[in-house]
Amino acid sequence: MKGHRWFAAFYERLSNIEEKSAAVRKIREEIVGGARGRVLEIGAGTGASFPYYGDDVTEVSAVEPDPFMLPRARKRAEEVDKPIEVQHAPAEELPFDDDTFDTAISTLVLCSVSDPQKALSEIKRTLKPGGQLRVYEHVRYQSSFGAFWQDLITPAWKWFGGGCHPNRDTGSTITEAGFKFDSVRLVKTAPPVPPMVFVRPHIVGIATSV
Ligand SMILES: C[S@@+](CC[C@H](N)C(=O)[O-])C[C@H]1O[C@@H](n2cnc3c(N)ncnc32)[C@H](O)[C@@H]1O
Repeated sequence: MKGHRWFAAFYERLSNIEEKSAAVRKIREEIVGGARGRVLEIGAGTGASFPYYGDDVTEVSAVEPDPFMLPRARKRAEEVDKPIEVQHAPAEELPFDDDTFDTAISTLVLCSVSDPQKALSEIKRTLKPGGQLRVYEHVRYQSSFGAFWQDLITPAWKWFGGGCHPNRDTGSTITEAGFKFDSVRLVKTAPPVPPMVFVRPHIVGIATSV
């Protein structure tokens, strides 16, 4: 991946703002804070999820393919006092053996990966049987009106937003990849005004590899 220099800088600022949102903090506490054992985190970005790992985690293997995000994630990993290693790799080609992880974390990533099906099949391959995929992702509107606008904006949004597709039905893609949701709910953490109106709602979900 060539990377997104300006988006990486912008996203770090955005994450700092987002971290001030009690609703988003609570979701990261639930999704990331509920991880246990050996953990895979895809698309670590600037490391916004790193502070939320708890004591049930033995080690975190994070991957990040964007060379402009990578140093930010590594810096954050050093700052938080947790066993986190960040590798330069895309979710579609995970540099890990089969059945390695107890938990996989994806927060705001499956909108951006080039091939979500391949990424999910890699997550499934590297998770132990019965392992958990814990996600916080923005998804396609259920209403055709909202989805119409997301489809319209996606080509431009992808360009500005580091490859982010606002219009993906990520919950269905997760199920089709062989995961079963133990719990999933739709939340509206982003404000209903442009531009954030295009990247809501979100799913908060815990799925098991079946
Ligand atoms: C919106 S950021 C989210 C970062 C972080 N997970 C968070 O919660 O703040 C999306 C991240 O996905 C990464 N990404 C894009 N394509 C990817 C791929 N194929 N595999 C893994 N990560 C990818 C981007 O480089 C970026 O860091």
